[in-house]
Amino acid sequence: MTGGVAAYKAAEILRQCQKLGAEVRVVMTPAATEFITPLTFQALSGAPVHTQLLDAEQESGMGHISLARWADVILVAPASADFIARLATGMANDLLSTLLLASEKTVMLAPAMNRAMYDDPNTQQNLNKLNGQGVIILGPGEGVQACGDIGLGRMLEPESLVASVVEHFNTGELAGLRVLLNAGPTREAIDPVRYISNHSSGKMGFALAQACVDAGAQVTLVAGPVLLDTPMGLERVDVISASEMADAVLSRSEPADIFIAAAAVADYTPAEIIDNKIKKKSAQMQLNLVKTIDVVATVAALPDAPFCVGFAAETDDLEAYAKGKLVNKSLDMIAANWVGREQGGFNSDENALSVYWNSGEQQLPSMPKLALAQQLVALIAKRYHEKNTD
Ligand code: PMT
Repeated sequence: MTGGVAAYKAAEILRQCQKLGAEVRVVMTPAATEFITPLTFQALSGAPVHTQLLDAEQESGMGHISLARWADVILVAPASADFIARLATGMANDLLSTLLLASEKTVMLAPAMNRAMYDDPNTQQNLNKLNGQGVIILGPGEGVQACGDIGLGRMLEPESLVASVVEHFNTGELAGLRVLLNAGPTREAIDPVRYISNHSSGKMGFALAQACVDAGAQVTLVAGPVLLDTPMGLERVDVISASEMADAVLSRSEPADIFIAAAAVADYTPAEIIDNKIKKKSAQMQLNLVKTIDVVATVAALPDAPFCVGFAAETDDLEAYAKGKLVNKSLDMIAANWVGREQGGFNSDENALSVYWNSGEQQLPSMPKLALAQQLVALIAKRYHEKNTD
């Protein structure tokens, strides 16, 4: 961040990037700290904010060279006219300009300044020069400025800047493909106040949906009852029960190229839902349960079935059960994970997967679910393209 009124919007950029699974480190020029305090960004990012080049303490932690190497992308928002001028001349007279000079990663600038400063031939020349060197210039936008002027120079809104960062990571592996996913648990009502469910949080399926968007796919996510925000850039359909999950998936499976079944759909549901709350009477009670539709097996059996990826959640014999499900449900691929253990599986932020298909397998070790999802999506894309060029 450099010094500008738009500095306050950087907090929203940080928050949105984190929501998408990014790790964010904040570097502020001295001028930026005049507009908003480093403490705000330290609290939001959960990491020290870097402000000084010649500070022995900061340099011993994560100095300018380590920061330059650490980041996958560097977004300067807001980027003031002064900072743009210094960057264009290759100056290294504060931490931010020095780390940008030391960086070999993608740099994005979100200019924010008065319209006359933006229109000035010096600023235009500087931006053109940086653009020619591969720096990505995002905006600026047009409108009423803090100084009252109207014109070009406003920093683009956080959503738009974050979308550009996301786009940068678009691998294109699933470009042009339609992916349908399901995620989360289902709830099977017993009476108006009780239900049967499981511990799925939806995190694995939502991470996969995000990874599919990042890979360039058009994504529809059918979600059971979960407490998760919708990843950007996809269509979300909310359902509660296994039968609603089946209806929502089956009515959307026809145009899909790939179906990923990460949901923990109930295998059994009460044979009937009692109209009124069941009263506590005898010492024991029995529930009569009937099988639900197997959603992924039904999709895989369709005449023009999409490429079907199932999951297997097991407490024992992971490989044998997963391979059994791969065959019995006629899947193209299955991702197996342990559940009921302290780590991984349900509700945790990390997971590990053993992935099987008819001619191979791959172990994906424990890592954050978004990183794991990206690796699984890369595998799915590879297998999908191999199958469709056979
Ligand atoms: O949501 P999280 O908290 O992040 O946890 C992630 C997860 C553990 C739920 C996820 O990684 C996972 O394993 N999902 C599948 C859970 C499951 O129901 O597994 P299963 O082995 O019982 O079912 C095998 C496959 O059949 C699954 O793809 C499942 O979606 C599908 N199925 C099962 C029953 C049913 N009626 N219809 C189905 O489509």
